[in-house]
Amino acid sequence: MRFDVITLFPAQFTALTEEGVVARALQRRIAEIHLRNPRDDTTDVHRSVDDRPYGGGPGMVMRYAPLRAAIEAARAEAAAAGVRSRVAYLSPQGERIHQAKIARISAAPGWVLIAGRYEGVDERLIEDCVDEEWSIGDYVLSGGELAAMVVMDAVIRLLPGALGHADSARQDSHANGLLDCPHYTRPETIADQRVPQVLLSGDHRAIERWRLQQALGRTWQRRPELLQERGMSDVEQQLLDD
Ligand code: ADE
Repeated sequence: MRFDVITLFPAQFTALTEEGVVARALQRRIAEIHLRNPRDDTTDVHRSVDDRPYGGGPGMVMRYAPLRAAIEAARAEAAAAGVRSRVAYLSPQGERIHQAKIARISAAPGWVLIAGRYEGVDERLIEDCVDEEWSIGDYVLSGGELAAMVVMDAVIRLLPGALGHADSARQDSHANGLLDCPHYTRPETIADQRVPQVLLSGDHRAIERWRLQQALGRTWQRRPELLQERGMSDVEQQLLDD
């Protein structure tokens, strides 16, 4: 899977590319992240990437021409590598991203991600070049870089071979529409808190049932809206009925 990120601050991405799960996936060639600074695609002497908004008001708007040139160059490079990329713009006005969407994003061969700065980008760029607009939540970041990193992290860890243990992505919070169950490791007792007895029992079916009950209970207590549309799978119902 290939990402081409268009950003004025490529150095920020070392947070993702230098250590951890994503860095390892990049080393193993499970995914590629290419960074492209639109300033390098400017043609004027000042290499300007932004300008004042028409109609006045605070802040600056990212210009159409350098962004369009960067998107086209990124798509051409991806195409030369055999990848047909779609284009997504990260912004608080976008579609709210959730785990099911992350899974759909991971099924595409490549994405060009546009990380905006300032007050945003010229709307005509979105009209002409952007396939999807994504938000990572109802708050405003200083730029799309962190949002692009959030999406890439969530996507890349789902790719086959990215995580050490094959089951760990399947068990994640949200992977099955539920919050995750609690986890424990040694020691068995910390002050007056003991590890739940069932986890020490060796009874795998009982452990699985307990984990599902905990996940359902937590989701019901903390995020009841997630349960509303979800229902119960046959396998889960059978486990609870045992
Ligand atoms: N850029 C600024 N805020 C953002 C958000 N919440 N999601 C995606 N991109 C953003």
